[in-house]
Amino acid sequence: MTNAEIATAAERGEPVTPDSIMQLGMAFWGSKALLSAVELRLFGTLSEAGSLDAEELRERLGLHPRSARDFFDALLALGMLQRHDGKYSNTPATDLFLDPAKPTYVGGLLEMANARLYQFWGSLTAGLRTGQPQSEVKTGGDFFATVYADPERLAQFASAMSGLSASAGRAIAAKFPWHDYGSVVDIGCAQGAVPVAIATAHEHLTGGGFDLPALEPIFNAYVGKNGLADRLGFIPGDFFADPLPSADVLIMGHILHDWDLDQKRLLLQKAYAALPGDGVLIVHDAIIDDDRRENAFGLLMSLNMLIEGPYGFDYSGADCRAWMAETGFSESYVQHLVGPDSMVVGIK
Ligand SMILES: C[S@@+](CC[C@H](N)C(=O)[O-])C[C@H]1O[C@@H](n2cnc3c(N)ncnc32)[C@H](O)[C@@H]1O
Repeated sequence: MTNAEIATAAERGEPVTPDSIMQLGMAFWGSKALLSAVELRLFGTLSEAGSLDAEELRERLGLHPRSARDFFDALLALGMLQRHDGKYSNTPATDLFLDPAKPTYVGGLLEMANARLYQFWGSLTAGLRTGQPQSEVKTGGDFFATVYADPERLAQFASAMSGLSASAGRAIAAKFPWHDYGSVVDIGCAQGAVPVAIATAHEHLTGGGFDLPALEPIFNAYVGKNGLADRLGFIPGDFFADPLPSADVLIMGHILHDWDLDQKRLLLQKAYAALPGDGVLIVHDAIIDDDRRENAFGLLMSLNMLIEGPYGFDYSGADCRAWMAETGFSESYVQHLVGPDSMVVGIK
């Protein structure tokens, strides 16, 4: 925009400022401050203590005197902390969702973002130019085999998936007519946050999760901690090499976006084959709006798939419904879940 155009817009009563541009451009400052706070267990420390003054909090976190006050007050200004009479405490949201001792903790995703994605996204421009991943598989190799080769990274990835999917799981529990169905299996379940949310809300349901064998102890520990071991079991397998388990309802959450179009279609065909005659497949992801202009998180998630692996991409509700129709599903619909997440329900 030229200076003359800015003046004209201003005359029309439309303020033209660079504010939103600068806010977005520098958003990584606030993002990294939050990710470091999660890494330092700041919110868990405050949750345990109730409230602490700057010096007590600095000492407990092991921070340098030069950094602490600005760090705490920046988090306060960003709405992540409260301060009353010189004492810092969590906000209701950070206390509920960022205290690692609470079952509502969603920081697993932020821990992974801090440990892995933050640095990989630094190479976004290279990914955009080359179309090549910028993660651990930058120099080749299978994504899951590479990440899962390190037990710590496997546990971190599985916990990150729970952070990504727990609220979607609660929304699927609330928005799908579960009283009409008796069993559910989550395909590619990771820790099992989604079947746990659904089985917690619907006591008549049985089923479990299907994933690579490495996930079995992690799934069993999570399901056991949630008191659901009598209703949810783990089925080890490889969804490309093995047939999928059968259940009235199969779920695929953040699965299709990991793979290329032929692999997406193959997974839908395998789900269709495994379902009973009146079975249902629920696909959930940060489904992109059909016009590809609103769900920024879904679009950025698709770029995250570019960063993470060699062929994944996210998709719109219309894309997924078309693939389901090609596969043979008689009906499908898209329903919003929570935040950027929606589900596509395919009825066999
Ligand atoms: C992006 S995570 C999604 C986890 C979970 N559904 C969610 O939404 O939080 C993809 C999952 O697919 C699993 N997975 C990858 N390749 C697989 C394969 N060949 N067979 C079975 N599961 C696989 C991974 O182990 C991982 O748990």
